[in-house]
Amino acid sequence: MKIVFFETEKWECDILQHLCGEAEIAFCEKRLDARSAAVYLDADVISTFVHSTLDRETLDPFSRLKFITTRSTGVDHIDLEYCRTKAIPVSNVPTYGGTTVAEHVFALLLAISHHIPEAINRTRRGDFSQAGLRGFDLQNKTLGVIGTGHIGKRVAEIARGFRMEVMAYDPAPDEVFARQAGLSYVDWQTLLTQSDCITLHVPGGVGTRHMISGEAFSRMKKGVILINTARGSVVDVKALLRALAEGRVAAAGLDVLPEEPSIREEAELLRSFFSQEHDLETLLADHLLLRMRNVIITPHSAFNTTEAVEKILRTTAGNIQGFLHGKLQNVVT
Ligand code: NAI
Repeated sequence: MKIVFFETEKWECDILQHLCGEAEIAFCEKRLDARSAAVYLDADVISTFVHSTLDRETLDPFSRLKFITTRSTGVDHIDLEYCRTKAIPVSNVPTYGGTTVAEHVFALLLAISHHIPEAINRTRRGDFSQAGLRGFDLQNKTLGVIGTGHIGKRVAEIARGFRMEVMAYDPAPDEVFARQAGLSYVDWQTLLTQSDCITLHVPGGVGTRHMISGEAFSRMKKGVILINTARGSVVDVKALLRALAEGRVAAAGLDVLPEEPSIREEAELLRSFFSQEHDLETLLADHLLLRMRNVIITPHSAFNTTEAVEKILRTTAGNIQGFLHGKLQNVVT
């Protein structure tokens, strides 16, 4: 059995090696794509993070592939349909991120409400002026939570701690939780029109692509704050740029962007300008967002705490042990 971990850093390799015991293991720093796969095509098991592309073109050349375990909750980077047809089971890490990502949501929201990035930049320059730094309280504002799974629920609980009003939209509402946490489920239009801040916690994929569209922005309160820690594909970033320019959206806090793998790697980006695979207008929109003062962007780091990373590695090692011993766990397909 040969196991290959992609997108790994040195410190993770030591831990994974220890956790996986006797198995033959290889580590590759790069994300998995058709090029980086070339030297590992004899792998029986592969494990990646979310910046890899696990599509038909990349996976087909793996002649012995029997199991995929992603070190993430989201699985929208994997062609699950292909895996089903090839009978390759896919496991994920279902629950590590609830508290971790929810806390990051409030890091972004508070950074916006208190103008923290600008304030820090000023004091670093020795400038202690207040002009333009007036923010707003979260207390008594309405937070719209879209998607109330593990992360959305924790966000709602924290928001109640700030004495925010919380409304939520989810096709599978949890009314018991709503009563306990003190939130109300509302329809899509109500959430868009009544929220002062909106935070996204739905999975990526075709069902949620561009869920936050130009039409959705046009229904939002003027001056709304948008937080996205879910997936870049959920927001139409060209429509977001327009909404920011019109003042419909006052500010945005984004941990995820569409075309994220490309924007992460400058070399990749250059290549992508000459390929048909990427949406150049979306890439350009990403770049414009990166330069706007009322947009703060973190590098898909909402998951990145000691506690969460430890859980990711332990669960992944458990997924592999389960596969090796014929007891699959955390299977998504
Ligand atoms: P979860 O599976 O527990 O919850 C997802 C919720 O979204 C479910 O309640 C589901 O009913 C709801 N949903 C699905 N489609 C919907 C729609 N069209 N409209 C409204 N609600 C819808 O997932 P969890 O753990 O809460 O994570 C959510 C997402 O957060 C992940 O799929 C992943 O993409 C992202 N994530 C981002 C991280 C980061 O570092 N930025 C880290 C971990 C997760």
